[in-house]
Amino acid sequence: MKFDRQARTVDLDPRDPQFYNDPYSAYEEIRAHTPTFFWNQYGMWCFTAFSDVDRLLRDKRFGRQILHLMSREELGLEPPKPHLSDFDAVEAHSLLELEPPAHTRLRTLVNRAFVSRQVEKLRPEIAALTHATIDRFAADGAVELIKAFAEPIPVSVIARMLGVPQERCADLLDWSHAMVRMYMFEADAAAEHAANRAAIEFADCLTELIAERRRKPTDDLLSHMITSERGGDRLSDAELISTSVLLLNAGHEATVHQTGNAVKAILENGLDHRALFRDDAAAAAAIEESLRYDAPLHMFTRYALEDVVLDGGIEVRKGQEIGLMLGAANRDPRQFADPTSFAAGRADQANVTFGAGIHFCIGAPLARLEMQVSLPILFERLPGLRLADTPRYRDAYHFHGLERLDLAW
Ligand code: HEM
Repeated sequence: MKFDRQARTVDLDPRDPQFYNDPYSAYEEIRAHTPTFFWNQYGMWCFTAFSDVDRLLRDKRFGRQILHLMSREELGLEPPKPHLSDFDAVEAHSLLELEPPAHTRLRTLVNRAFVSRQVEKLRPEIAALTHATIDRFAADGAVELIKAFAEPIPVSVIARMLGVPQERCADLLDWSHAMVRMYMFEADAAAEHAANRAAIEFADCLTELIAERRRKPTDDLLSHMITSERGGDRLSDAELISTSVLLLNAGHEATVHQTGNAVKAILENGLDHRALFRDDAAAAAAIEESLRYDAPLHMFTRYALEDVVLDGGIEVRKGQEIGLMLGAANRDPRQFADPTSFAAGRADQANVTFGAGIHFCIGAPLARLEMQVSLPILFERLPGLRLADTPRYRDAYHFHGLERLDLAW
């Protein structure tokens, strides 16, 4: 890492294994000089202070979308790539890419299914699914936890909620992985073609399902989205497909990695799982701390919707992006006492792992519940769990999750 303290610019390759395996050391080094820096590789100002990240996520002068205010030419963007047209079509109506009022309308339609009261009903189903998943490897004495445990549970839960048949879960994982690669730093042409192919197959699968549910609605979320109306207005097929793809992808990617990161944190810190998970309240506190301690998504960006001058004289012009560093904010010593310690139940518990403001994660209650139910069962069934190899993170800086998590007992 090269640091120009005067200009507050940082040269730091997000694909450097040393960095993506331990981004926290780099954050601390930067923070020792400045909470805000210009990251040369991304070409934008990045914010590491908890208070800045939390505030800027809620700041209406910044948004996830800019093309409703400025053209691609004005932004200096290349024209859309024809070989990504199907991927772009799926993204076009994604909640994550919309701003109010389109965002408010879509979000209100799906929100009902994800509020805590509704999600809590899934507790017995998640517990049964966890036991069935562990049954498949409990006698083996060793497991690669990401593939065998962290992936199947959230994929299966979100597929069931939406009404996608369980036998499509393997396809969902493949499509999702291919699409998520597009958010990596400098995705290459092969990744772009694979993401577009995945978007076509994913949309085809959903088009079939939507037609089926139109003929015969059930009580799943897809049927609910098809029949929901607000002010005489229904979701179009394109909106139904984009929303379903987002829910299916967002519904597992981060939870998979948070599960891996949490198990790694518990084992590496030598924590007593019996104390950590002694009752539901303790389990909830432990999961909350795992979310703060090692979050699976480290950076989200926002566009300036107008020219803005921020604290420290940082000027951001309309159309420019800023980077909000969730993983760094969660370890800010001005917010948390002893931020590098895993302290379940800490008095200063707060985190920006699920974001803040209008795009705050719709799936937060579901992700929390999945982990609060599945991790205590995992440690109770396999009390001798230990690391069998040094865990390594994937080469995907934003998605801070493990390549593998090899365990034995
Ligand atoms: C540990 C697991 C998860 C983490 C860390 C996480 C994190 C996040 C974050 C940080 C955002 C906000 C992005 C931004 O402000 O730009 C977000 C949005 C979103 N998440 Fe999650 N998420 C998780 C699980 C889930 C689950 C299980 C679902 C299932 C439905 C989900 C669905 C969504 C959706 C639909 C949005 C977009 C909301 C909007 O734009 O209004 N997430 N998530």
